[in-house]
Amino acid sequence: MRLGILGSGSGSNMQAILDAIADGSLDAEIAIVLSDNPDAYILERARKAGIPTGLIDCRGFKTKYPLEVQAETAAALLKAEVDLVCLAGFMRLVKSPLMAVFPGRIINIHPSLLPAFPGLHAWKQALEQGVSESGCTVHYVDAGIDTGPIILQAKVPVLPDDTAESLHERIQVEEHRLYPEAIRIVASRL
Ligand code: GAR
Repeated sequence: MRLGILGSGSGSNMQAILDAIADGSLDAEIAIVLSDNPDAYILERARKAGIPTGLIDCRGFKTKYPLEVQAETAAALLKAEVDLVCLAGFMRLVKSPLMAVFPGRIINIHPSLLPAFPGLHAWKQALEQGVSESGCTVHYVDAGIDTGPIILQAKVPVLPDDTAESLHERIQVEEHRLYPEAIRIVASRL
């Protein structure tokens, strides 16, 4: 199974997927890594691993993902013969035509127990709300914001002395375990 990974940041989830492939626990190949941020460390990690990379040129928009750019992304993923698109810290909202080209084949990892705390900085939202438990979710991407069908979740306790950073760090440990496992599940359904 050929994976296309989209990310905007450090790429630790991409690394976890890569590590699972390397240790034989995930039967897949990362065909391409695309980022909307030319300075994102995810691109550096991919280059180091010899994985083809590409830039998603959002025409200077900070958060918008213009439809024509989404069509370009779809074309790049198709050219790389991608079977499954994995959003890994990708901070733009995916819509058609990207979704229409990969129906049921785009998944995302989110740092909360969805449906709780969709959107940005979910771990900060959890801390501010004073919940005793948060976690992470891998889900199919649909037209909403972090609303698609859930594939897997993992719980993480919120500790009394947690800061936003310490909570996010512990959630990420679970993310790195969860994402490869979720990809295995999705692969078995394709
Ligand atoms: C992860 O915690 C992921 O769940 C989150 O961004 C981080 C990316 O880390 N995604 C979202 O908040 C999406 N709404 P990484 O670049 O090290 O994988």
